[in-house]
Amino acid sequence: MNKNLFISCINLCKNTKNNNILKNINFSLKQGNMMVIIGSSGSGKSTLLHIIAGLDSISSGDIFFNGISIKNMNQDQLSCLRKNNIGFIYQFHYLLFDFSCLENVALPLLIKKEKKSIAYEKSIKMLHQVGLKDNIFHKNPSSLSGGERQRIAIARALVSKPKLIIADEPTGNLDEINSRLVLDLFLKFNKKYNTTVIVVTHHIQIFKVFPIQAEMNQGNLLLKNIIL
Ligand SMILES: Nc1ncnc2c1ncn2[C@@H]1O[C@H](COP(=O)(O)OP(=O)(O)OP(=O)(O)O)[C@@H](O)[C@H]1O
Ligand SMILES: [Mg+2]
Repeated sequence: MNKNLFISCINLCKNTKNNNILKNINFSLKQGNMMVIIGSSGSGKSTLLHIIAGLDSISSGDIFFNGISIKNMNQDQLSCLRKNNIGFIYQFHYLLFDFSCLENVALPLLIKKEKKSIAYEKSIKMLHQVGLKDNIFHKNPSSLSGGERQRIAIARALVSKPKLIIADEPTGNLDEINSRLVLDLFLKFNKKYNTTVIVVTHHIQIFKVFPIQAEMNQGNLLLKNIIL
């Protein structure tokens, strides 16, 4: 396995009893590559993102991070991989309603044993970067709009400056201005920290600016365009 490749997806399949959800997916990304995936509802996009992040199991084939297979990692090893490398933005954001907005964003840093005052300072900065104002920081996310919740989830994924951002329709609930803000944030992270980004989107404006473009079609990933 080529260690210069950050992620390699080799003959990846996901099958359930009645369904071949992912069919022989192959692609590789170097650190700093940006890939966007479009595709119709039910085509397998979220399933692929979850498997890459070790949140769902592989039926056959494998995924390698820096040449290391994740197929046989146990849950602790997968959690460690996620904690140290991946910022995941879920399609349905999964914020914790027992905690305030600020606490939700700070969580990945606190899990990594960052000092509380520094974790909160970084989280406030991140919340400002996604365009949220101080007055919501101590509110419960359940009292916020869908777009505000989505931006909190984005701040939570980015706050620890992960090597890999995986985003599942991150702008699904956002207006044009906030969608652009999120896109600019991904581009900024990519430029500043060489962050690898994989995004699923229905937004053509986002699709257009990503150098690696792919389409999911009934479980097949078709690479459409690679501009590197
Ligand atoms: N846990 C599961 N068990 C069985 N089938 C599943 C499971 N999760 C997803 N599927 C099926 O896998 C297929 C792909 O689902 P997936 O959520 O990956 O699609 P998607 O491309 O993300 O769709 P959308 O654009 O609506 O979010 C669907 O047919 C779905 O019903
Ligand atoms: Mg989905």
